Amino acid sequence: MLLGLVLLMCAPPCEPAMLLLTARPSRPKEGSSMTLTCEVQAASWKPDAQPQFCFFRDSQALWQGWSSSPELQLPTVWREDSGSYWCEAKTSELRVARSPRIQIQVQGVPVWNVSLETQPPGGQVQKGEKLVLVCLATQGTGDITFSWYKGALGLNLETKTQRSLAAKFEIPAVTDSDTEKYYCAADNGYGPSISELVSVTIRIPASRPVLTVRVPGTRAVVGDVVELRCEAQSGSPPIQYWFYHEDVTLGSSSAPSGGGASFNLSLTPERSGNYSCEADNGLGPQRSEAVPLSVTVPTEDRKELLASGILEGLLGTLGPTIIALLVCCWLKKRIGRRPARDPCRSPPSPMAQVSNYVNSVAPLQEQSVYENVNVVSGEEVYSLVYHTQQERQAAGEK
Ligand SMILES: *[C@@H]1O[C@H](CO)[C@@H](O)[C@H](O)[C@H]1NC(C)=O
Ligand SMILES: *[C@@H]1O[C@H](CO)[C@@H](O)[C@H](O)[C@H]1NC(C)=O
Ligand SMILES: *[C@@H]1O[C@H](CO)[C@@H](O)[C@H](O)[C@H]1NC(C)=O
Repeated sequence: MLLGLVLLMCAPPCEPAMLLLTARPSRPKEGSSMTLTCEVQAASWKPDAQPQFCFFRDSQALWQGWSSSPELQLPTVWREDSGSYWCEAKTSELRVARSPRIQIQVQGVPVWNVSLETQPPGGQVQKGEKLVLVCLATQGTGDITFSWYKGALGLNLETKTQRSLAAKFEIPAVTDSDTEKYYCAADNGYGPSISELVSVTIRIPASRPVLTVRVPGTRAVVGDVVELRCEAQSGSPPIQYWFYHEDVTLGSSSAPSGGGASFNLSLTPERSGNYSCEADNGLGPQRSEAVPLSVTVPTEDRKELLASGILEGLLGTLGPTIIALLVCCWLKKRIGRRPARDPCRSPPSPMAQVSNYVNSVAPLQEQSVYENVNVVSGEEVYSLVYHTQQERQAAGEK
Protein backbone atom coordinates (compact mmCIF):
# COMPACT_ATOMS: atom_id res chain seq x y z
CA MET A 1 0.00 0.00 0.00
CA LEU A 2 2.71 2.36 1.00
CA LEU A 3 4.82 1.22 -1.91
CA GLY A 4 1.92 1.90 -4.29
CA LEU A 5 1.47 5.40 -2.95
CA VAL A 6 5.14 6.12 -3.37
CA LEU A 7 5.09 4.90 -6.92
CA LEU A 8 2.00 6.84 -7.82
CA MET A 9 3.60 9.97 -6.49
CA CYS A 10 6.72 9.30 -8.51
CA ALA A 11 7.95 12.36 -10.36
CA PRO A 12 8.45 12.25 -14.18
CA PRO A 13 12.18 11.44 -14.14
CA CYS A 14 11.67 8.27 -12.14
CA GLU A 15 8.62 7.04 -14.16
CA PRO A 16 9.32 3.47 -15.26
CA ALA A 17 7.51 4.11 -18.54
CA MET A 18 5.69 6.75 -20.57
CA LEU A 19 2.15 5.60 -21.49
CA LEU A 20 -0.38 7.02 -23.93
CA LEU A 21 -4.03 5.96 -24.08
CA THR A 22 -5.85 6.18 -27.38
CA ALA A 23 -9.46 5.37 -28.23
CA ARG A 24 -10.74 4.24 -31.61
CA PRO A 25 -12.99 5.80 -32.68
CA SER A 26 -12.28 8.84 -30.61
CA ARG A 27 -15.97 9.90 -30.73
CA PRO A 28 -17.82 6.58 -30.67
CA LYS A 29 -21.51 6.31 -31.49
CA GLU A 30 -23.83 4.85 -28.97
CA GLY A 31 -24.39 1.16 -29.58
CA SER A 32 -21.13 0.74 -31.47
CA SER A 33 -17.82 -0.70 -30.28
CA MET A 34 -14.73 1.14 -29.07
CA THR A 35 -11.12 -0.03 -28.76
CA LEU A 36 -8.78 1.38 -26.12
CA THR A 37 -5.00 1.02 -26.63
CA CYS A 38 -2.43 1.62 -23.93
CA GLU A 39 0.72 2.45 -25.81
CA VAL A 40 4.15 2.27 -24.22
CA GLN A 41 6.12 5.25 -25.52
CA ALA A 42 9.34 4.76 -23.57
CA ALA A 43 10.13 2.27 -20.82
CA SER A 44 12.94 1.99 -18.32
CA TRP A 45 12.00 -1.57 -17.48
CA LYS A 46 14.02 -4.51 -18.68
CA PRO A 47 13.27 -5.68 -22.23
CA ASP A 48 12.06 -9.08 -21.03
CA ALA A 49 9.75 -7.59 -18.44
CA GLN A 50 6.16 -8.67 -19.11
CA PRO A 51 4.04 -5.62 -18.43
CA GLN A 52 0.37 -5.92 -17.37
CA PHE A 53 -2.19 -3.31 -18.35
CA CYS A 54 -5.27 -2.00 -16.72
CA PHE A 55 -7.87 0.51 -17.96
CA PHE A 56 -9.82 2.94 -15.85
CA ARG A 57 -12.84 5.11 -16.24
CA ASP A 58 -13.65 7.75 -13.66
CA SER A 59 -11.42 6.02 -11.07
CA GLN A 60 -12.92 2.57 -11.67
CA ALA A 61 -10.99 -0.30 -13.23
CA LEU A 62 -12.79 -1.59 -16.29
CA TRP A 63 -14.17 -5.04 -16.04
CA GLN A 64 -11.23 -7.18 -17.04
CA GLY A 65 -8.70 -5.88 -14.48
CA TRP A 66 -5.02 -6.46 -15.18
CA SER A 67 -4.22 -8.15 -18.44
CA SER A 68 -1.19 -8.74 -20.62
CA SER A 69 -2.98 -7.15 -23.58
CA PRO A 70 -2.38 -3.42 -24.16
CA GLU A 71 -5.76 -3.34 -25.95
CA LEU A 72 -9.27 -3.42 -24.61
CA GLN A 73 -12.28 -3.73 -26.83
CA LEU A 74 -15.65 -2.58 -25.53
CA PRO A 75 -18.20 -4.30 -27.81
CA THR A 76 -20.92 -1.68 -27.27
CA VAL A 77 -20.70 1.66 -25.61
CA TRP A 78 -23.59 3.77 -24.35
CA ARG A 79 -23.86 7.35 -23.31
CA GLU A 80 -23.27 6.42 -19.67
CA ASP A 81 -19.88 5.04 -20.75
CA SER A 82 -18.76 8.60 -21.43
CA GLY A 83 -16.12 9.87 -19.01
CA SER A 84 -12.46 10.26 -18.21
CA TYR A 85 -10.30 7.30 -19.20
CA TRP A 86 -6.69 6.34 -18.49
CA CYS A 87 -4.56 3.24 -18.40
CA GLU A 88 -1.82 1.88 -16.19
CA ALA A 89 1.00 -0.57 -16.80
CA LYS A 90 3.07 -2.52 -14.32
CA THR A 91 5.81 -5.10 -14.42
CA SER A 92 6.59 -7.95 -12.06
CA GLU A 93 8.78 -5.56 -10.15
CA LEU A 94 5.56 -3.65 -9.27
CA ARG A 95 6.70 -0.49 -10.97
CA VAL A 96 3.52 1.18 -12.10
CA ALA A 97 3.13 3.76 -14.82
CA ARG A 98 -0.01 5.73 -15.63
CA SER A 99 -1.14 7.47 -18.82
CA PRO A 100 -2.64 10.94 -18.97
CA ARG A 101 -6.44 11.01 -18.88
CA ILE A 102 -8.53 11.39 -21.99
CA GLN A 103 -12.19 12.47 -22.18
CA ILE A 104 -14.46 10.24 -24.19
CA GLN A 105 -17.97 11.39 -25.07
CA VAL A 106 -20.19 8.64 -26.47
CA GLN A 107 -22.44 10.13 -29.11
CA GLY A 108 -26.13 9.29 -28.88
CA VAL A 109 -28.33 9.28 -32.00
CA PRO A 110 -31.61 11.09 -31.35
CA VAL A 111 -34.82 9.22 -31.90
CA TRP A 112 -36.01 9.83 -35.44
CA ASN A 113 -39.08 8.99 -37.56
CA VAL A 114 -41.44 7.62 -34.94
CA SER A 115 -44.52 5.80 -36.18
CA LEU A 116 -47.41 3.89 -34.68
CA GLU A 117 -48.53 0.61 -36.19
CA THR A 118 -51.52 -1.49 -35.27
CA GLN A 119 -51.90 -5.23 -35.05
CA PRO A 120 -54.11 -6.23 -36.76
CA PRO A 121 -52.92 -3.86 -39.51
CA GLY A 122 -55.25 -1.16 -40.77
CA GLY A 123 -56.69 -0.45 -37.35
CA GLN A 124 -59.83 -2.54 -37.87
CA VAL A 125 -60.31 -4.70 -34.81
CA GLN A 126 -63.12 -7.04 -34.03
CA LYS A 127 -64.87 -6.31 -30.76
CA GLY A 128 -63.40 -8.42 -27.95
CA GLU A 129 -60.18 -9.11 -29.84
CA LYS A 130 -56.68 -8.01 -28.99
CA LEU A 131 -55.24 -4.73 -30.24
CA VAL A 132 -51.50 -4.14 -30.21
CA LEU A 133 -50.10 -0.66 -30.74
CA VAL A 134 -46.48 -0.85 -31.85
CA CYS A 135 -44.46 2.32 -31.48
CA LEU A 136 -41.33 2.31 -33.59
CA ALA A 137 -38.49 4.60 -34.49
CA THR A 138 -36.22 4.31 -37.52
CA GLN A 139 -33.22 5.52 -35.51
CA GLY A 140 -32.34 6.37 -31.95
CA THR A 141 -29.74 4.93 -29.62
CA GLY A 142 -29.68 3.90 -26.03
CA ASP A 143 -32.63 3.66 -23.73
CA ILE A 144 -35.77 4.96 -25.37
CA THR A 145 -38.83 5.98 -23.42
CA PHE A 146 -42.01 5.13 -25.29
CA SER A 147 -45.41 6.60 -24.45
CA TRP A 148 -48.82 5.82 -25.91
CA TYR A 149 -51.67 8.31 -26.07
CA LYS A 150 -55.37 8.03 -26.82
CA GLY A 151 -57.47 10.69 -28.50
CA ALA A 152 -56.51 14.10 -29.75
CA LEU A 153 -56.29 15.32 -26.16
CA GLY A 154 -53.64 12.74 -25.42
CA LEU A 155 -54.72 10.55 -22.56
CA ASN A 156 -51.52 8.77 -21.56
CA LEU A 157 -52.09 5.02 -21.73
CA GLU A 158 -48.65 3.78 -20.82
CA THR A 159 -44.99 4.74 -20.67
CA LYS A 160 -42.09 2.32 -20.73
CA THR A 161 -38.36 2.51 -21.29
CA GLN A 162 -36.56 -0.03 -23.42
CA ARG A 163 -33.25 -0.33 -25.16
CA SER A 164 -34.84 -1.08 -28.52
CA LEU A 165 -36.33 0.78 -31.46
CA ALA A 166 -39.81 -0.65 -31.01
CA ALA A 167 -42.13 -1.24 -28.11
CA LYS A 168 -45.64 -2.65 -27.82
CA PHE A 169 -48.70 -1.63 -25.92
CA GLU A 170 -51.53 -4.12 -25.82
CA ILE A 171 -55.27 -3.87 -25.20
CA PRO A 172 -56.27 -7.52 -24.61
CA ALA A 173 -59.98 -7.16 -25.48
CA VAL A 174 -61.22 -4.03 -27.21
CA THR A 175 -64.63 -2.51 -26.55
CA ASP A 176 -66.61 0.07 -28.51
CA SER A 177 -65.00 2.90 -26.55
CA ASP A 178 -61.60 1.97 -27.99
CA THR A 179 -62.66 3.38 -31.35
CA GLU A 180 -60.34 6.41 -31.30
CA LYS A 181 -57.25 7.98 -32.71
CA TYR A 182 -53.95 7.01 -31.13
CA TYR A 183 -50.37 8.24 -31.25
CA CYS A 184 -47.11 7.52 -29.53
CA ALA A 185 -43.93 9.34 -28.61
CA ALA A 186 -40.36 8.16 -28.22
CA ASP A 187 -37.54 9.96 -26.44
CA ASN A 188 -33.94 8.99 -25.76
CA GLY A 189 -32.94 12.18 -24.03
CA TYR A 190 -32.82 14.51 -27.02
CA GLY A 191 -36.49 15.47 -26.81
CA PRO A 192 -39.58 13.47 -27.76
CA SER A 193 -40.41 12.55 -31.31
CA ILE A 194 -44.10 11.98 -31.99
CA SER A 195 -45.91 9.70 -34.41
CA GLU A 196 -48.87 10.56 -36.59
CA LEU A 197 -52.41 9.92 -35.39
CA VAL A 198 -53.65 6.46 -36.24
CA SER A 199 -57.36 5.61 -36.28
CA VAL A 200 -58.59 2.44 -34.69
CA THR A 201 -62.11 1.21 -35.42
CA ILE A 202 -63.74 -1.48 -33.39
CA ARG A 203 -65.95 -3.53 -35.69
CA ILE A 204 -68.70 -6.04 -35.20
CA PRO A 205 -68.79 -9.01 -37.56
CA ALA A 206 -71.85 -9.38 -39.76
CA SER A 207 -74.49 -11.68 -38.33
CA ARG A 208 -75.99 -14.46 -40.40
CA PRO A 209 -78.09 -12.67 -43.04
CA VAL A 210 -81.68 -13.43 -43.94
CA LEU A 211 -82.58 -13.75 -47.60
CA THR A 212 -86.07 -12.83 -48.76
CA VAL A 213 -87.26 -13.35 -52.30
CA ARG A 214 -89.96 -10.90 -53.35
CA VAL A 215 -92.10 -12.13 -56.17
CA PRO A 216 -94.48 -9.66 -57.90
CA GLY A 217 -97.46 -12.02 -57.94
CA THR A 218 -98.40 -15.08 -55.97
CA ARG A 219 -96.05 -17.33 -57.89
CA ALA A 220 -92.73 -16.79 -59.60
CA VAL A 221 -93.41 -16.89 -63.30
CA VAL A 222 -90.97 -16.80 -66.20
CA GLY A 223 -90.34 -13.19 -67.16
CA ASP A 224 -90.97 -11.82 -63.68
CA VAL A 225 -88.37 -9.68 -62.01
CA VAL A 226 -87.88 -10.91 -58.46
CA GLU A 227 -86.09 -8.93 -55.83
CA LEU A 228 -83.62 -10.84 -53.69
CA ARG A 229 -83.10 -8.95 -50.47
CA CYS A 230 -80.35 -9.86 -48.08
CA GLU A 231 -79.97 -8.34 -44.66
CA ALA A 232 -77.73 -8.99 -41.68
CA GLN A 233 -79.28 -7.78 -38.43
CA SER A 234 -75.94 -6.67 -37.02
CA GLY A 235 -72.49 -5.93 -38.37
CA SER A 236 -70.34 -2.87 -38.84
CA PRO A 237 -70.67 -1.18 -42.22
CA PRO A 238 -69.74 -1.31 -44.99
CA ILE A 239 -71.23 -4.71 -45.66
CA GLN A 240 -70.86 -6.41 -49.00
CA TYR A 241 -73.68 -8.77 -49.94
CA TRP A 242 -73.27 -11.61 -52.41
CA PHE A 243 -76.18 -13.41 -54.04
CA TYR A 244 -76.05 -17.04 -55.09
CA HIS A 245 -78.21 -19.36 -57.10
CA GLU A 246 -77.22 -22.97 -56.49
CA ASP A 247 -73.86 -21.74 -55.23
CA VAL A 248 -73.17 -19.81 -58.43
CA THR A 249 -72.61 -16.11 -57.86
CA LEU A 250 -75.32 -13.93 -59.39
CA GLY A 251 -73.82 -10.66 -58.29
CA SER A 252 -73.11 -8.49 -55.33
CA SER A 253 -74.27 -5.27 -53.83
CA SER A 254 -72.86 -3.21 -51.05
CA ALA A 255 -74.47 -1.45 -48.13
CA PRO A 256 -72.01 1.35 -47.36
CA SER A 257 -73.78 2.44 -44.22
CA GLY A 258 -75.19 -0.85 -43.05
CA GLY A 259 -78.61 -2.41 -43.50
CA GLY A 260 -79.44 -4.80 -46.28
CA ALA A 261 -79.04 -4.83 -50.04
CA SER A 262 -81.10 -6.18 -52.87
CA PHE A 263 -80.51 -7.68 -56.24
CA ASN A 264 -83.09 -7.89 -59.01
CA LEU A 265 -83.28 -10.97 -61.11
CA SER A 266 -85.28 -11.63 -64.23
CA LEU A 267 -86.67 -15.15 -64.16
CA THR A 268 -86.09 -17.81 -66.75
CA PRO A 269 -87.16 -21.46 -66.35
CA GLU A 270 -83.80 -22.63 -65.13
CA ARG A 271 -83.78 -20.06 -62.35
CA SER A 272 -85.64 -22.56 -60.16
CA GLY A 273 -83.64 -23.88 -57.26
CA ASN A 274 -82.03 -22.75 -54.08
CA TYR A 275 -80.99 -19.16 -53.46
CA SER A 276 -78.75 -17.90 -50.73
CA CYS A 277 -76.80 -14.80 -49.89
CA GLU A 278 -73.72 -13.87 -47.97
CA ALA A 279 -72.87 -10.84 -45.84
CA ASP A 280 -69.22 -9.89 -45.54
CA ASN A 281 -67.72 -6.89 -43.80
CA GLY A 282 -64.21 -8.25 -43.75
CA LEU A 283 -64.56 -10.08 -40.46
CA GLY A 284 -65.61 -13.44 -41.88
CA PRO A 285 -68.42 -13.94 -44.40
CA GLN A 286 -71.79 -15.20 -43.16
CA ARG A 287 -74.10 -17.23 -45.38
CA SER A 288 -77.89 -17.20 -45.19
CA GLU A 289 -80.06 -20.26 -45.23
CA ALA A 290 -81.08 -21.55 -48.64
CA VAL A 291 -84.40 -20.28 -49.99
CA PRO A 292 -85.96 -22.52 -52.62
CA LEU A 293 -87.70 -20.88 -55.55
CA SER A 294 -89.76 -22.65 -58.10
CA VAL A 295 -90.18 -20.80 -61.35
CA THR A 296 -93.43 -21.52 -63.13
CA VAL A 297 -93.64 -21.39 -66.88
CA PRO A 298 -96.81 -19.40 -67.87
CA THR A 299 -100.11 -21.20 -67.71
CA GLU A 300 -100.33 -21.89 -71.44
CA ASP A 301 -99.70 -25.56 -71.84
CA ARG A 302 -96.93 -25.25 -74.30
CA LYS A 303 -94.64 -23.46 -71.98
CA GLU A 304 -95.39 -25.79 -69.16
CA LEU A 305 -94.58 -28.63 -71.44
CA LEU A 306 -91.37 -27.02 -72.44
CA ALA A 307 -90.29 -26.64 -68.88
CA SER A 308 -91.29 -30.15 -67.91
CA GLY A 309 -89.92 -33.35 -69.24
CA ILE A 310 -93.03 -34.27 -71.20
CA LEU A 311 -91.38 -32.68 -74.16
CA GLU A 312 -89.01 -35.55 -74.45
CA GLY A 313 -91.89 -37.94 -74.84
CA LEU A 314 -93.51 -35.89 -77.55
CA LEU A 315 -90.30 -35.75 -79.39
CA GLY A 316 -90.29 -39.47 -79.77
CA THR A 317 -93.85 -39.71 -81.17
CA LEU A 318 -94.26 -36.55 -83.21
CA GLY A 319 -90.66 -35.95 -84.09
CA PRO A 320 -90.56 -37.27 -87.64
CA THR A 321 -93.73 -35.42 -88.65
CA ILE A 322 -92.49 -32.16 -87.25
CA ILE A 323 -89.11 -32.46 -88.83
CA ALA A 324 -90.78 -33.08 -92.15
CA LEU A 325 -92.91 -29.99 -91.67
CA LEU A 326 -89.99 -27.89 -90.70
CA VAL A 327 -87.84 -28.98 -93.56
CA CYS A 328 -90.77 -28.17 -95.81
CA CYS A 329 -91.02 -24.71 -94.30
CA TRP A 330 -87.39 -24.11 -94.63
CA LEU A 331 -87.24 -25.20 -98.23
CA LYS A 332 -90.22 -23.11 -99.13
CA LYS A 333 -88.77 -20.11 -97.59
CA ARG A 334 -85.54 -20.66 -99.36
CA ILE A 335 -87.21 -21.17 -102.71
CA GLY A 336 -90.20 -18.85 -102.96
CA ARG A 337 -90.82 -16.97 -99.72
CA ARG A 338 -94.56 -17.21 -99.77
CA PRO A 339 -95.28 -17.22 -96.12
CA ALA A 340 -98.90 -16.09 -96.34
CA ARG A 341 -100.10 -19.32 -97.81
CA ASP A 342 -97.60 -21.52 -96.21
CA PRO A 343 -99.14 -24.85 -95.24
CA CYS A 344 -96.93 -24.83 -92.23
CA ARG A 345 -98.78 -21.82 -90.86
CA SER A 346 -101.83 -23.66 -89.77
CA PRO A 347 -100.77 -26.80 -88.04
CA PRO A 348 -103.13 -28.44 -85.58
CA SER A 349 -100.69 -28.09 -82.71
CA PRO A 350 -98.17 -25.29 -82.99
CA MET A 351 -97.06 -26.02 -79.44
CA ALA A 352 -95.94 -29.51 -80.26
CA GLN A 353 -94.17 -28.27 -83.35
CA VAL A 354 -92.23 -25.72 -81.50
CA SER A 355 -91.28 -28.00 -78.72
CA ASN A 356 -90.06 -30.65 -81.01
CA TYR A 357 -88.43 -28.24 -83.22
CA VAL A 358 -86.44 -26.67 -80.49
CA ASN A 359 -85.30 -30.00 -79.28
CA SER A 360 -84.50 -31.66 -82.56
CA VAL A 361 -82.93 -28.82 -84.44
CA ALA A 362 -79.43 -29.12 -83.20
CA PRO A 363 -77.85 -30.37 -86.41
CA LEU A 364 -79.29 -27.51 -88.50
CA GLN A 365 -77.63 -24.18 -89.04
CA GLU A 366 -78.47 -21.59 -86.47
CA GLN A 367 -79.48 -19.15 -89.13
CA SER A 368 -82.25 -21.44 -90.42
CA VAL A 369 -83.50 -22.15 -86.99
CA TYR A 370 -84.12 -18.52 -86.46
CA GLU A 371 -86.08 -18.00 -89.65
CA ASN A 372 -88.28 -21.03 -89.37
CA VAL A 373 -89.37 -20.43 -85.91
CA ASN A 374 -90.43 -16.95 -86.74
CA VAL A 375 -92.54 -18.18 -89.54
CA VAL A 376 -94.13 -20.93 -87.58
CA SER A 377 -94.99 -19.39 -84.27
CA GLY A 378 -94.29 -15.70 -83.94
CA GLU A 379 -92.85 -13.75 -81.08
CA GLU A 380 -93.33 -16.05 -78.18
CA VAL A 381 -91.66 -18.96 -79.83
CA TYR A 382 -88.92 -16.77 -81.05
CA SER A 383 -88.05 -15.97 -77.48
CA LEU A 384 -88.03 -19.62 -76.59
CA VAL A 385 -85.63 -20.48 -79.34
CA TYR A 386 -83.45 -17.62 -78.44
CA HIS A 387 -83.38 -18.88 -74.92
CA THR A 388 -82.38 -22.34 -76.06
CA GLN A 389 -79.44 -20.94 -77.92
CA GLN A 390 -78.35 -19.15 -74.83
CA GLU A 391 -78.45 -22.34 -72.94
CA ARG A 392 -76.21 -24.04 -75.44
CA GLN A 393 -73.74 -21.21 -75.32
CA ALA A 394 -73.71 -21.40 -71.58
CA ALA A 395 -73.16 -25.13 -71.68
CA GLY A 396 -70.30 -24.63 -74.08
CA GLU A 397 -68.63 -22.16 -71.78
CA LYS A 398 -68.50 -24.55 -68.85
C1 LIG B 1 -40.18 6.06 -41.28
O1 LIG B 1 -40.79 4.96 -40.61
C2 LIG B 1 -41.68 4.24 -41.41
C3 LIG B 1 -42.35 3.18 -40.56
O2 LIG B 1 -41.44 2.41 -39.86
C4 LIG B 1 -40.92 3.60 -42.57
O3 LIG B 1 -41.81 2.89 -43.38
C5 LIG B 1 -40.27 4.70 -43.36
O4 LIG B 1 -39.50 4.12 -44.35
C6 LIG B 1 -39.40 5.54 -42.45
N1 LIG B 1 -38.90 6.67 -43.21
C7 LIG B 1 -37.61 6.77 -43.53
C8 LIG B 1 -37.28 7.98 -44.34
O5 LIG B 1 -36.77 5.97 -43.16
C1 LIG C 1 -85.41 -3.87 -57.80
O1 LIG C 1 -86.70 -3.65 -58.19
C2 LIG C 1 -87.50 -2.94 -57.25
C3 LIG C 1 -88.92 -2.92 -57.72
O2 LIG C 1 -88.99 -2.93 -59.09
C4 LIG C 1 -86.93 -1.54 -57.09
O3 LIG C 1 -87.65 -0.80 -56.16
C5 LIG C 1 -85.51 -1.68 -56.61
O4 LIG C 1 -84.90 -0.43 -56.53
C6 LIG C 1 -84.71 -2.57 -57.53
N1 LIG C 1 -83.44 -2.82 -56.91
C7 LIG C 1 -82.29 -2.81 -57.58
C8 LIG C 1 -81.09 -3.15 -56.82
O5 LIG C 1 -82.23 -2.56 -58.77
C1 LIG D 1 -82.36 -26.96 -51.80
O1 LIG D 1 -81.94 -27.09 -50.45
C2 LIG D 1 -82.59 -28.13 -49.76
C3 LIG D 1 -82.18 -28.07 -48.33
O2 LIG D 1 -81.06 -27.29 -48.14
C4 LIG D 1 -82.24 -29.47 -50.39
O3 LIG D 1 -82.89 -30.49 -49.72
C5 LIG D 1 -82.66 -29.41 -51.83
O4 LIG D 1 -82.26 -30.60 -52.46
C6 LIG D 1 -82.07 -28.23 -52.55
N1 LIG D 1 -82.62 -28.13 -53.86
C7 LIG D 1 -81.85 -28.11 -54.95
C8 LIG D 1 -82.58 -27.98 -56.24
O5 LIG D 1 -80.64 -28.15 -54.88
